[in-house]
Amino acid sequence: MTTFERAPLNYAELPFGYQKTDINVRYIWRNGSWDAGTETDSEFLPLPIAAPALHYGQALFEGLKVYTTKDDRALLFRAEQNARRMQHSAEMLSMQAPPEELFLEAVERVVRANRRFLPPYGEGATLYVRPLLLGSGAQIGVAPAEEYVFMVLVTPVGPYFKNGFSSTKLVIEDEIVRAMPGGIGTAKAGGNYAAGMRATVKAKKGGFGEALYLDSTKRFIDELGAGNFFGIREGKRYITPASPSILHSITNDSLQTLASDLGYIVEKRPVPVGELFDFVETAACGTAAVITPVESITYKGETITYLKDGQPGPHCTELYNALTALQTGDAPDSYGWTHEVNIN
Ligand code: PLP
Ligand code: COI
Repeated sequence: MTTFERAPLNYAELPFGYQKTDINVRYIWRNGSWDAGTETDSEFLPLPIAAPALHYGQALFEGLKVYTTKDDRALLFRAEQNARRMQHSAEMLSMQAPPEELFLEAVERVVRANRRFLPPYGEGATLYVRPLLLGSGAQIGVAPAEEYVFMVLVTPVGPYFKNGFSSTKLVIEDEIVRAMPGGIGTAKAGGNYAAGMRATVKAKKGGFGEALYLDSTKRFIDELGAGNFFGIREGKRYITPASPSILHSITNDSLQTLASDLGYIVEKRPVPVGELFDFVETAACGTAAVITPVESITYKGETITYLKDGQPGPHCTELYNALTALQTGDAPDSYGWTHEVNIN
């Protein structure tokens, strides 16, 4: 039973946007250890003007969601994977990451403190959790910061791509290379998103939903700016790029397991651009994107259309239903992927 009053929002109409909630938390790493964290209602972060996060890009983040069940419980989905990925990202940028237990404690603390913003079940909205890590100690030399801020904020969100489970049109970016082997494409570094903005703006100007990146040789599919990519071939084959320059998506990883349970053959390997002609369905996947079916992909002026009427295809629908049923507690969680946050 719910013991709190929900914030009066139009949850069904929420965009994927930021809005202020009640509390965020900040932990400071200084002299070799993390402090106990401070809860605040301030939307501002005091940072030294010489913080390496500001000058040299020692800035990274995570993204996960809280899913509301039919009986109004709050579920996290594989949050420990986000904690581990933050550690990987931090290693790539020579930063101090919070230990897994601290990461999870911080997430639960902020979710509990903002429970009144938890969207009701079935409205197509979720509480998005954004952990952020910044190199904050003042210095001007290019070197790892001597102090770090780890903070967590939450905000209720609607679908990342407009209209929820509906399709989007992609364009292959054939000029801008966002990440390359040996670079930081596997890290959830803020700089990767800055590097992708030019391509997104260009794609939107051209009337597309997003850009699809190739690898640095321009022969293989990498991913989107905010999600991994997968394609389905005849014979129930789920195919997704293996690449040293993409983010390891927790959603994609989960979908590979669920697809296999549903009788798909899962192939994680380099995906040549030419294979786009062989797919019967393609999609973007990620925490924010969930599964976003792709209506068409345009490359050098040529368009491959997957969905004639823009309606999601049967494979994406089957996978979407399996994933979201598990996340919202509608289907049994045989992998122990969900974790309830006590909000009462
Ligand atoms: N790739 C990029 C570049 C992303 O920003 C995201 C979003 O988090 C993903 C992939 C999907 O990752 P996940 O499924 O863990 O959210
Ligand atoms: C996510 O899916 O959580 C992301 O981080 C994507 C994004 C909005 C940058």
